[in-house]
Amino acid sequence: MKFPIVSLLILLSASWTISLPTQESFLHCLNTNSQISVPLSAFCSPNNSSFSSILQSSAQNLRYLEPSKPKPEFIFTPLYESHVQAAVICSRELGIHMRVRSGGHDYEGLSYVSEIETPFIVVDLAKLRSISVDIPDNSAWIQAGATIGEVYYRISEKSNIHGFPAGLCPSLGVGGHITGGAYGSMMRKYGLGADNVIDGRIIDVNGKILDRAAMGEDLFWAIRGGGGASFGVILSWKIKLVPVPPIVTVFTVTKSLEEGATKTLYRWQQVADKLDENLFIRGTVKKGQRTVTTSYNALFLGGADRLLQVMQQSFPELGLTRKDCIETSWIKSVLYIGGYPSNTPPEVLLQGKSTFKNYFKAKSDFVKQPIPETALEGLWTRLLQEDSPLMIWNPYGGMMSKISESEIPFPHRKGTLFKIQYVSLWEDGEKNAARHMDWIRKLYNYMAPYVSQFPREAYVNYRDLDLGMNKKSNTSFVEASAWGAKYFKDNFNRLVRVKTKVDPDNFFRHEQSIPPLPVK
Ligand SMILES: Cc1cc2nc3c(=O)[nH]c(=O)nc-3n(C[C@H](O)[C@H](O)[C@H](O)COP(=O)(O)OP(=O)(O)OC[C@H]3O[C@@H](n4cnc5c(N)ncnc54)[C@H](O)[C@@H]3O)c2cc1C
Ligand SMILES: *[C@@H]1O[C@H](CO)[C@@H](O)[C@H](O)[C@H]1NC(C)=O
Ligand SMILES: *[C@@H]1O[C@H](CO)[C@@H](O)[C@H](O)[C@H]1NC(C)=O
Ligand SMILES: *[C@@H]1O[C@H](CO)[C@@H](O)[C@H](O)[C@H]1NC(C)=O
Repeated sequence: MKFPIVSLLILLSASWTISLPTQESFLHCLNTNSQISVPLSAFCSPNNSSFSSILQSSAQNLRYLEPSKPKPEFIFTPLYESHVQAAVICSRELGIHMRVRSGGHDYEGLSYVSEIETPFIVVDLAKLRSISVDIPDNSAWIQAGATIGEVYYRISEKSNIHGFPAGLCPSLGVGGHITGGAYGSMMRKYGLGADNVIDGRIIDVNGKILDRAAMGEDLFWAIRGGGGASFGVILSWKIKLVPVPPIVTVFTVTKSLEEGATKTLYRWQQVADKLDENLFIRGTVKKGQRTVTTSYNALFLGGADRLLQVMQQSFPELGLTRKDCIETSWIKSVLYIGGYPSNTPPEVLLQGKSTFKNYFKAKSDFVKQPIPETALEGLWTRLLQEDSPLMIWNPYGGMMSKISESEIPFPHRKGTLFKIQYVSLWEDGEKNAARHMDWIRKLYNYMAPYVSQFPREAYVNYRDLDLGMNKKSNTSFVEASAWGAKYFKDNFNRLVRVKTKVDPDNFFRHEQSIPPLPVK
């Protein structure tokens, strides 16, 4: 009986001697390397009572907050850019594995959990969230820790005819979101958020701040769609604002199976990518009371009269009527699409908080040909077997087809009719997690014949570790190319070349970071 106690004591004392110096030596190093001194209050260790609330603050997937998941040694919340620079220098110098978090929406919690390396720390950019909008220049500089909702709000504060085409969920952090692509309800008109970035500032592996001119076009290409945390820490983006009309129209029309949902969704597949570019209609499929319900949630960049003409001409099967249509401002359409109750003031966007948090697992597919009605029926059967399934079908076409596959790393362009996101949501923690994971993996297998193949494409911002995972710091190009091709198609090769050039020792790494080629 004696032995375990003694070894426990040894373990305990070992972890004390390791954990005490990490934060202290890090702090010491930061203050040696940062132009502006770093206060102790910028740190939070697990022994601090604020630790869980800070860790949880922006974490979106509750699966990764479970007690069984590894926790960072400490969370460092920089107050100035020079703090972030010093954090990179010191993590490297002290050999501490670093994760960087902006909005915390990563599907696999990669910004705050490392399942491949311990110890690790989290650098949380939540306090670097300034936004400066320049209407005469049609542009804005936005810091990585800002949410996309704050960006939309700050634009609308200065103009009702400017907007930005990025995500539908206002609490997304622009640091992670835009570097993975960033699609939203104006993508058919203007492309992705990443298509509308004109400059950026990044901290490289040496702790240097580089803008577009200093980083060069290869690296600037890679960070616009190549996914988070492979190339450096993005400090801020310069985005190009896009014109929006003073009045836009939104609507939601729902159809249950009994109301002909299958036929309507089949028709939607034939028209959604070919509609007027000003019109974005996404389909949401959920489980209702022993049935499946579909709903069509839309933004039209124009008034209701024009929208009704467009719908009459291209998609009369939906049966849209004048009273389904809500004319509003662009910023209010953001709240509508974001699911806020009507009359919520736009200022809610400044809270930068997400409206819901769940345990979830999600996967994505790209569809090139309409899925037959019989296959849809098989899909309904499967949805009805799960507790809380959700699918979001997101139309492509328009501007998305006009931008070439290699313009930025995001390759899902011409020929894509729509993207499917499959989600299973649950609330009871780890108890039934395996069952939900199993359900969604089987659903994904079922869908294989109906979606893109060779590669079966996936959206990097819907991070999915089922597709493959790096091992520790040393992953071969061949292993990573399996998931790399799904997210980036041929662009993966160029991403690897950029990575090899800018971070040959693979300092910026995680479960699905772009690997460098081995040094010869
Ligand atoms: C509820 C919900 C709704 C969503 N809706 C949309 C949508 O409408 N459109 C869409 O395109 N996507 C959507 N997404 C996906 C979203 O774009 C990605 O999860 C995105 O990566 C989130 O960025 P983040 O900064 O919030 O996340 P984080 O978890 O902070 O970061 C994501 C990844 O990027 C890295 N990273 C974070 N900040 C930086 C930085 N400054 N520099 C370098 N790397 C960094 C992280 O380490 C991590 O690997 C949604 C996700 C959720 C959970
Ligand atoms: C927690 O631990 C850190 C070192 O890891 C120490 O500096 C700090 O003072 C401790 N805080 C509390 C509240 O005990
Ligand atoms: C606990 O963490 C908070 C937030 O990081 C910080 O302000 C505070 O100083 C910490 N307390 C101690 C004793 O370290
Ligand atoms: C990486 O892996 C290769 C082969 O798998 C091995 O030869 C090499 O030494 C490893 N490098 C490091 C840094 O571990």
